[in-house]
Amino acid sequence: MGITGQDGSYLAELLLAEGYEVFGLTRRLSASNYWRIEHLLDRITLIPGDLLDQLSLIRALERAQPHELYNLAAMSFVPASWDQPMLTGEFNSQGVTRVLEAVRVVDPKIRVYQASSSEMYGKVREIPQTELTPFYPRSPYGVSKVFAHYITVNYRESYDLFAVSGILFNHESPRRGLEFVTRKVTNGVARIKAGLTQQLGLGNLDAQRDWGFAGDYVRAMWMMLQQDEPDDYVIATGESHSVRQLVEIAFTHAGLDWQQHVVLDPAFIRPAEVDHLIGDASKAKAQLGWSPTVDFAGLVTMMVDADLARYGR
Ligand code: NAP
Ligand code: GDD
Repeated sequence: MGITGQDGSYLAELLLAEGYEVFGLTRRLSASNYWRIEHLLDRITLIPGDLLDQLSLIRALERAQPHELYNLAAMSFVPASWDQPMLTGEFNSQGVTRVLEAVRVVDPKIRVYQASSSEMYGKVREIPQTELTPFYPRSPYGVSKVFAHYITVNYRESYDLFAVSGILFNHESPRRGLEFVTRKVTNGVARIKAGLTQQLGLGNLDAQRDWGFAGDYVRAMWMMLQQDEPDDYVIATGESHSVRQLVEIAFTHAGLDWQQHVVLDPAFIRPAEVDHLIGDASKAKAQLGWSPTVDFAGLVTMMVDADLARYGR
């Protein structure tokens, strides 16, 4: 679920490479949004459905008869959760309950991955954050993900489901949505370089995130479902960087001076901010054997290069 998203597209590639038959749940839209999975369409099966519609989830599982289910579907853009808090809860919280109920009804042996988020740590209670750090979400999105996290744990404990939550820190790629800050910056750099604009309006340059590469993070999701016992894991690089550092690396890589182009736009300041995230993925390293392969500078330059190439074309 969520196959049309950033993570869904990388996960589908990984599962195909591992020899899986891949089914993806998609909701009907008036225009196609398959740009991330276009190259996979002849090797996967898409099934219509929506997190809001319990019956569609049950029918999708009956049709696909999966052994593993990855629930990556969500309203994932934090600022939008203040605009649509109720819908965010319906998708991200009750939607997960619907997924878990569908699993119980159709086949409780299906292994379930739930996409939890470092946004749950919000106003962080300790640095770095581990699986045991208390949550203090700072947005309706973060609150919705805390519900989803605990309902997943609860269904595991109540019904003996093999259900795991991956607490993933920010992960990015050339397939990241254009509104998230990494892609907004790398796309902005490419547009400036192509002469299409001169300015890039941003919000809080001091916010710090633990940013990794999405391709590495979907591998961790898969590894979690291959364990003997279900458990929850933090997935992070263990390094944090500010939005300012992101901007500096991206502009410099394209031969631009960011101070000539970046302007502060108050429209992008959030009602409540998550100032500093940094994860401790020791448990995943020890138990899954997972570690990231792309560092921060490598990630940013990969994304800038991809956007420059796109505008070059
Ligand atoms: P994304 O690119 O925004 O993709 C979200 C996916 O969810 C899309 O396929 C979207 O479909 C689908 N979706 C949304 N609402 C739906 C609904 N009502 N019914 C069915 N499908 C629906 O997000 P992502 O970056 O790949 O993230 C994947 C998951 O990980 C999300 O749950 C996100 O909250 C979580 N997460 C992400 C990060 C990160 O840094 N990327 C970190 C921690 C957790 P459409 O294409 O139709 O919109
Ligand atoms: N989007 C955006 N746009 N963010 C900006 C901007 C801007 O113009 N200027 C500064 N920022 C700051 C935000 O205030 C935030 O502190 C940081 O950049 C990262 O913002 P996003 O890239 O939008 O990501 P996010 O951290 O809010 O949420 C992402 O990561 C979560 C995991 O921690 C999303 O992928 C969530 O779905 C995910 O759960």
